[in-house]
Amino acid sequence: MGSFVLHGNIIDSESPERLRVAADSYLVCEEGRCTGVFSALPERFSGLPLTDFGDRLILPGMTDLHLHAPQFAFRGLGMDLELLDWLNAHTFPEEAKYADLSYAALAYGQFVDCLRRSATTRAVVFGTVHPAATTLLMELLEASGLVSYVGKVNMDRDCPEALREADAAASLAATEQWLASARFAHTKPILTPRFVPSCSDALLQGLGELAARRGLPVQSHLSENLGEIALVQSLCPQTDFYAEAYDRCGLLSQPCIMAHCVHCPPEEQDLLQARGVFIAHSPLSNSNLSSGIAPVSAYLARGLRVGLGSDLAAGETENLFRVMAEAIRVSKLRWRLLDDTTAPLTVAQAFYLATRGGGAFFGEAGCFEPGFALDAVVLDDSALVHPQELTPIERLERCIYLADERHIAAKYVAGTRLF
Ligand code: GUN
Ligand code: FE
Repeated sequence: MGSFVLHGNIIDSESPERLRVAADSYLVCEEGRCTGVFSALPERFSGLPLTDFGDRLILPGMTDLHLHAPQFAFRGLGMDLELLDWLNAHTFPEEAKYADLSYAALAYGQFVDCLRRSATTRAVVFGTVHPAATTLLMELLEASGLVSYVGKVNMDRDCPEALREADAAASLAATEQWLASARFAHTKPILTPRFVPSCSDALLQGLGELAARRGLPVQSHLSENLGEIALVQSLCPQTDFYAEAYDRCGLLSQPCIMAHCVHCPPEEQDLLQARGVFIAHSPLSNSNLSSGIAPVSAYLARGLRVGLGSDLAAGETENLFRVMAEAIRVSKLRWRLLDDTTAPLTVAQAFYLATRGGGAFFGEAGCFEPGFALDAVVLDDSALVHPQELTPIERLERCIYLADERHIAAKYVAGTRLF
């Protein structure tokens, strides 16, 4: 964790609506945190080591609020089904393989290598039901230098025997066993009931109590797909809407991420807002599984907390540039085809979601304001040739549509340079 100065074209989000650009400027980091952005370097920082990135773009590191590490292995495969059939046909058989630690080491090694090279600096990750494989995943993430939350998945019903935990007590005991080994500096545990159909009432109740007792955050899926929502309604006839099944167990009361939220009725949105829940918008996944399009600009307008999720492997890539572009693209289709009262996302809003919006789950992360963690990606967009000189904002917009890990010249997480 260092103290240093970076020079380049610095861009971050002031708010969902406003990008902040400091061309040809200096970003000062002290003890891993931002001190500020300066157009001329103040004398008092002249003793710090300076890395001159010249004309390159310096952006905040990005946060992936929702992805499944074990699904990396089948990214780009099996996109012809909706959620519930996709889980049975592709996801559960692959996740069962993580009972084998040597397979987990190979597959999770490939996943973590890929995430490390991406624009993602912070991530909130699903593992599998297996405690040992999930701890192994945490060891690999810790060694990568990324900052993350990782969850051992809980599921005690409605899945193949190979993955099903015997009952709520067995699932909670396995969770406690995993928590005892999950002690890392930058890789923290998060409780992970897969979703209501996979968890008995007793398991959700037990996880809610565990979250409160240990002050642990929670992640799950919510109102993703119409077939799933109908199933939850039949499983929980006494609830008025899906999120109540989590809330009645206290699962929305800790720091919490709910992935998708494509089809949330107004009362459900009110509850998410009252509980301060983060929504992980995962547009690639929502297109691939024919789930729908979440009304993200309406969520932002009403002050809900929203970030982006790649949702590997229902989303086919960890590349958050692609996720930003897809978020903008599907928001236009939603506006054109479904609801012309919800405006399409702007470039500034999509960039906010990928940086500040999701970064907020980690506290002060996702922008270059004083005191925030110094997470940065340095982009070399010179290979994206253009016959004219472009402004930094135009270059950022092109990167959202065109960049991938090949354009990342350097990456910093909490003041440490990863490459
Ligand atoms: N709902 C429950 N499990 C999953 C999963 O693995 N992926 C997605 N997209 N939704 C889910
Ligand atoms: Fe998911």
